[in-house]
Amino acid sequence: MSQHETGDQIPSLSGYSEAELDQAFAGVLREVETSAAALADSDAVEAFRLQWLGRKQGRLKAISDAWLAPAPVEAKKLIGQRFNVLKSAIEERLERAGKATHTNALEAERIDITLPGTQPRVGAEHPLIKTQNELLAIFARMGYSVGVGPEVETDYYNFESLNFPPGHPARDTQDTLVVANQDRKPLRDRLLMRTHTSPVQIHTMETQAPPVRIVIPGKVHRNDAADATHSPIFHQLEGLCVDTNITFADLKGTLDHAMKELFGSSVKTRFFPSFFPFTEPSADVQISCPFCGGKGCRKCKHSGWIELLGCGMVDPAVFGFVQQKQPAYDPKKISGFAFGMGIDRIAMMKYGISDIGLLYSGDLRFLEQFG
Ligand code: PHE
Repeated sequence: MSQHETGDQIPSLSGYSEAELDQAFAGVLREVETSAAALADSDAVEAFRLQWLGRKQGRLKAISDAWLAPAPVEAKKLIGQRFNVLKSAIEERLERAGKATHTNALEAERIDITLPGTQPRVGAEHPLIKTQNELLAIFARMGYSVGVGPEVETDYYNFESLNFPPGHPARDTQDTLVVANQDRKPLRDRLLMRTHTSPVQIHTMETQAPPVRIVIPGKVHRNDAADATHSPIFHQLEGLCVDTNITFADLKGTLDHAMKELFGSSVKTRFFPSFFPFTEPSADVQISCPFCGGKGCRKCKHSGWIELLGCGMVDPAVFGFVQQKQPAYDPKKISGFAFGMGIDRIAMMKYGISDIGLLYSGDLRFLEQFG
């Protein structure tokens, strides 16, 4: 028989003599003891409390209704005394059981300080972010601020204002994803994924009068098939310096210093004539191979030099586009230089990464090495 079922029925008293009452109460106390002995957790203790002391359904209330209420006046005192003893007995069991289950709960929470700890997983800076931050710090020390710009650009900012007129062959080297169904818009307003960070040069100059010294890191997109050295998404660091009397010597000194900071003071730089529509003159910059010191090794394809970035003096035609919004960029009064480098390539060189795809794989076995 379950405790609940016993609880439903109160045996009737056989008489009101002290012996008969003692016997009846002793029966109830045995019941109390049996169920109190089985209390294992705090839920069971609460159920026991309700079962015996509950104001409406409790067994004590039922006993009072069945035995005390209908008793003749002369028996009430005898029953009342025994009733109170029973009640204290129940309360005492309840308190004891409560303490015991509380101790059990504490016991379960006890920490075994001899067990080995759980090691937290520590995150690591991604090698691209690490390289980018290093570059930003180098230019920050030279007084450059840091800017950002949108990854979705208009044709005007990505090409036209940088002196790539519509149909110019230099556009072919920077094919990219374009937003669909824009044929009704004028070409200059059509949206595309930017192919370089150079459009941020224009945004910066349109909103800020000279002097400007700024570096702009960011993601760029090109229609390039992925292989060990190409990825359709990669990262560039753009630089722009505009002021009075800025010369090619300033450009050379700035980049030479930056490369020495990045790869060590023994690294040399050399500049080759090149072409970009938005710089004139333009140059490609090589650094002496930081791995072999210029003697020639596999990394520099035995040439002793590694090509790392493009640069040049800002083309007056670019200032012309900017002047539509900021007349202060008068090419007769100011001059400037700009440069752009691939952050991925620099990260690969610095950390000896042979496949650019690893930078985008999200493979923890690769990333954990940079912790
Ligand atoms: N935007 C050029 C590229 O992506 C690099 C560059 C930037 C060249 C600034 C000159 C000046 O190839």
